Amino acid sequence: MASSIIRFLLVLIVSVSFSNAQLPTHPGIVFDLERDSSTLQYLVKINQGTPQREVKLVVDFGGKLPWFACHGGYYSSSLRKVSCTSSQCSQAEKPVSTCADPKICSISLRNPVTRSVGKGELISDIVTVKSDPDNQQTPVPSSRNVAFGCAATSNILSGLDKASKGVAGLGRSSALSLASQFAVGFQYPNIFAVDLHDSVRDEKVLETTGKIYFGGGPYIHYFWGISDLADRVLTYTPLLINPKSEEEYFVDVKSIKVHGETLPINNKLLSINKTTGIGGTKIDIRIPYTTLETSIYNAFIKAHTEWVDRLNIANAELMDFPNITMVAAVAPFTTCYDSSTIILRGPSVVNNVAPSVSFVFPTSVWNISFFDLVIAKEGVACVGFVDGGLNPMTSIVIGALLQQKPAIAKTLLQFFAMALF
Ligand SMILES: *[C@@H]1O[C@H](CO)[C@@H](O)[C@H](O)[C@H]1NC(C)=O
Ligand SMILES: *[C@@H]1O[C@H](CO)[C@@H](O)[C@H](O)[C@H]1NC(C)=O
Ligand SMILES: *[C@@H]1O[C@H](CO)[C@@H](O)[C@H](O)[C@H]1NC(C)=O
Repeated sequence: MASSIIRFLLVLIVSVSFSNAQLPTHPGIVFDLERDSSTLQYLVKINQGTPQREVKLVVDFGGKLPWFACHGGYYSSSLRKVSCTSSQCSQAEKPVSTCADPKICSISLRNPVTRSVGKGELISDIVTVKSDPDNQQTPVPSSRNVAFGCAATSNILSGLDKASKGVAGLGRSSALSLASQFAVGFQYPNIFAVDLHDSVRDEKVLETTGKIYFGGGPYIHYFWGISDLADRVLTYTPLLINPKSEEEYFVDVKSIKVHGETLPINNKLLSINKTTGIGGTKIDIRIPYTTLETSIYNAFIKAHTEWVDRLNIANAELMDFPNITMVAAVAPFTTCYDSSTIILRGPSVVNNVAPSVSFVFPTSVWNISFFDLVIAKEGVACVGFVDGGLNPMTSIVIGALLQQKPAIAKTLLQFFAMALF
């Protein structure tokens, strides 16, 4: 029961286009996500080529196009080279605008982890997808041609999860991003959504650490065969364009609340400097924990410890629980508590109705309950936000925020379930 609640909590909906509440005319498609426990990268499994094989790609919100190492052992009879005179080639990032025989479309590929740039060429191959089973009774497989970057060497893979062959670029401004290509290929709105949660196993979804949907919802969850729509409350906010980083997903965070308290934040940090691209807030699930510029981080921690103090005082008056006790911090976190003292606080948490963290947008609020604490090691629950330093490029990077150790996280899930009821 506990996990049925917890796994619905982090849903992050990103509208790639600004198309207003456009309903999908065709069923969307869905892929399972996998998360590696050491790199914490999310991988999407794509069935491609002829004969069909599964290729795992690291999900990269800021990537211009999907690419993989297609030399050395990759054979597909449906693979085609994209001509350098094609419109697709003109949409890719090119090192030099040469278009000599044999008219290969030479392009640059970016590794989002090491930030290195490699050479490759543009190819296309068949991708076979399943329609979203929540949208249609029987998932229907269908295929489309998708343009990929083909890396010239496998050196470019360094830093990426060992199980991956490349990167699934989902950049918001690129016509070659996987989201844009699927939208055109399957004629549905240019929308994708990720649903991230701890590793779960059930008869409907088997084992997964999340899903990525293209083309729209409904985003229904299954837990032991029971579908759950009730927790599906989506918050919408327009995306901002950072002129220096057009592929990335910036949002307009106006303020942050921690357990109901608004943090004092220098407004300059919250806006994007159009000349330098510095500042603002972006969403990037490659970052495991939300990262805050130092002054925001300090204000965050202060508000959080004040909340703990308030709880301790309230409990001293009302109940006979041990106080929430601070313990030695576990890096990269700086503020940690004895998790057994937190679990015992259930009833007082019930009384505290404010969400753990709220990101306040111009016309909406994204309430996040519970994900403020992370079990960093056995018995130690830390405030799961990370100091991003004094002069980061982006002031706030909203990361995946999730548990890296599902087995241990169960402790926390129980606590959270208690808090809910
Ligand atoms: C943006 O950054 C530039 C260079 O640091 C600076 O001169 C300018 O004043 C900044 N703009 C704003 C609106 O802060
Ligand atoms: C818990 O903390 C409160 C507030 O700091 C204090 O008044 C109380 O005595 C503490 N209770 C215990 C059992 O330490
Ligand atoms: C977010 O939390 C605040 C404070 O509890 C509440 O007033 C508001 O309705 C919540 N918003 C949403 C969208 O859940």
